[in-house]
Amino acid sequence: MSSEDAACTIRVDLGDRGYDIVIGDGVLARAGECIAGLFHGARAVIVSDETVDALHGGTLRNSLDSSSITHETVLVPPGERSKGFEVLETVVDGVIAGGFERGDVLLALGGGVVGDLAGFAAGIVRRGMNFVQLPTSLLAQVDSSVGGKTGINSPRGKNLIGLFNQPSLVLADTAVLDTLSDREMHAGYAEIAKYGLIDRPDFFQWLEQNHKAVFAGGAARAEAVAVSCQAKADVVKADEKELGSRALLNLGHTFGHALEAAVQYDAERLVHGEGVAIGMVLAHEFSNHMNHCGPEVAERVRAHLQAVGLPVSIDQIPGDKPSVETLMSSIAQDKKVQRGALTFILTKGIGESFVAKDVPTEAVRSFLETKLPAC
Ligand SMILES: NC(=O)c1ccc[n+]([C@@H]2O[C@H](COP(=O)([O-])OP(=O)(O)OC[C@H]3O[C@@H](n4cnc5c(N)ncnc54)[C@H](O)[C@@H]3O)[C@@H](O)[C@H]2O)c1
Ligand SMILES: [Zn+2]
Repeated sequence: MSSEDAACTIRVDLGDRGYDIVIGDGVLARAGECIAGLFHGARAVIVSDETVDALHGGTLRNSLDSSSITHETVLVPPGERSKGFEVLETVVDGVIAGGFERGDVLLALGGGVVGDLAGFAAGIVRRGMNFVQLPTSLLAQVDSSVGGKTGINSPRGKNLIGLFNQPSLVLADTAVLDTLSDREMHAGYAEIAKYGLIDRPDFFQWLEQNHKAVFAGGAARAEAVAVSCQAKADVVKADEKELGSRALLNLGHTFGHALEAAVQYDAERLVHGEGVAIGMVLAHEFSNHMNHCGPEVAERVRAHLQAVGLPVSIDQIPGDKPSVETLMSSIAQDKKVQRGALTFILTKGIGESFVAKDVPTEAVRSFLETKLPAC
């Protein structure tokens, strides 16, 4: 990307379900023309959360007005609690009450919560209507808006109800991230670093040199979002429905999810991206423990994430430390132990991760015991 206001486009190549991701500062103000070009004569229903709508809903509505697209807005409360049946019903009801048809378009304006919820609603109203993702958090721009996983939580667990439902377009305005909290910005950055660690060592090295510019905004931030979207698009293209290699996107997530569960998903103590940051350091240390790489690899990961300002060890989570048993039981649940073995994403080096299907449960336990020695 050459100048600050240039947008770049990445194609998610999934045949007749393929779509563009347009990334850059200011693309939200151009949403109307993009949508008018894709869906001639369609009306639009915006689904957003109250926080995001107050900050950025006006820009989107002005843009739709300029392209003569009529629209209504359905708002949900901000936060993970909105990913449930009750709020889904409100959204679906708002769309139906507004008389929106299959050929109209639902615009999901918000973070991953809105994207997952509204994308699912678009998939089930009238057996499926058009939808566009307008991700406004860093995590949503580099992860949740790309790839077509949509859904809500069950009281029995996260993301258990949903659909693979690809959007028709993703518009990621990197300037809207200026209003995102510092903590959410860092949490999203963990997923950016993850793409480098999965299979893009040059990108990881670029991040080591340019992370301050990525946080500052402008061209470096848009570049980091674009490379991340390309990385996710490549993985999704190779394995859309997560039958094999898409599991690589879970690098750091097995440990990360176990830490999130151990704090009972208390976002005051740990947000997802922070769990992923600690989880990625642990995954690299565990790869060393399993003799797949030397200790310097995890050291490099730790040094970078620490330099960025992310937590890198279990000790940094406020409150009581989780026990090895607590972590082991959620890892076993997450991964469905088969004959005493677990599937893990391990690595041979920076950007050389792989799916390991035969990791002995005992090896994970003995590794965690080195991290959490009994007092
Ligand atoms: N579908 C997928 O593939 C996928 C992948 C990863 C995560 N997810 C899901 O994504 C969700 C997390 O997404 P998230 O981290 O974006 O959370 P979120 O949607 O709750 O957004 C975080 C907070 O930031 C606020 N916010 C968003 N954009 C803002 C902006 N530009 N300015 C100011 N505030 C803003 C929101 O109101 C919210 O309070 C989880 O439910 C997770 O399960 C889905
Ligand atoms: Zn994640």
